[in-house]
Amino acid sequence: MSDKYALIGNPVAHSFSPLIHAEFARQTGHDIEYTRLLAPLDGFAAAVEQFRAQGGKGLNVTLPFKLDAYRLATEKSARAEQAQAVNTLKFEAGTVFGDNTDGAGLVRDIEVNLGFPIVAMRVLLMGAGGAARGALPALLEKKPVTVVIANRTVAKARELARRFFHLGCSACGYDELANRQFDLIVNATSASIAGELPPLPPHLFAPRSLAYDMMYGKQPTPFLKFARQQGARTADGSGMLVEQAAESFFVWRGVRPDTAPVIARLRAGEFL
Ligand code: ATR
Repeated sequence: MSDKYALIGNPVAHSFSPLIHAEFARQTGHDIEYTRLLAPLDGFAAAVEQFRAQGGKGLNVTLPFKLDAYRLATEKSARAEQAQAVNTLKFEAGTVFGDNTDGAGLVRDIEVNLGFPIVAMRVLLMGAGGAARGALPALLEKKPVTVVIANRTVAKARELARRFFHLGCSACGYDELANRQFDLIVNATSASIAGELPPLPPHLFAPRSLAYDMMYGKQPTPFLKFARQQGARTADGSGMLVEQAAESFFVWRGVRPDTAPVIARLRAGEFL
């Protein structure tokens, strides 16, 4: 019988994760079954328990349950502790191991796939929600010269930055970004879902800068359109999606799949 894994969330219907993991399984010769698991908004823990009781080996966790998964895990990786959010659960005898592969997936896409080293760069991280929390520790680990967190609700950015202040992290509102320049600008807000653009000033992008939107879709997001107009190089979150999945696959199966052909297929629209 195949080892069972799933993506748990609400909603999960449009996720590419089952297709990505099916590709990884084919590539590595691992016999796994990876499905979508829609959990009621107030029924995360019960749905996890039921999946585990049915022999499930692990779960990916998406919105809005990453904090619930963090609370449910009995053991956690250092990066899950830092992000205070869990996107990967691994069930072992008597324990539930929680990890967070989002930040590693983002950084690997930026540095390895896009060939953009983060060391010594000036980084602007937009947003202070769950997506930003996952990204921040992984970005800081690569030793940028600074990470500025900008958020509509400045207090949330300040709260997040305070925990990483000693690593060169600071916070501000969008109105404080005028006359500042960054080499890497990461959109970790949910603005793109609503077709919106955070209120960014012009001239924000330094020469040879990279604009990265953690969202992905058929069309460039408003942020990526703006960045392109400003002369920046752009990337959407499709590479990150595949990289975080590969990192989860490694946590569960101990082998790292080759992501490049899967990213290429995703970009070519083969999974749509
Ligand atoms: P996620 O887990 O995806 O990060 P979240 O915790 O709801 O979701 O956080 C959404 C983030 O997107 C927040 O930082 C939010 O800003 P506020 O904290 O000020 O609400 C940000 N966001 C959403 N829509 C936005 C928009 N149109 N412009 C700028 N920021 C936006």
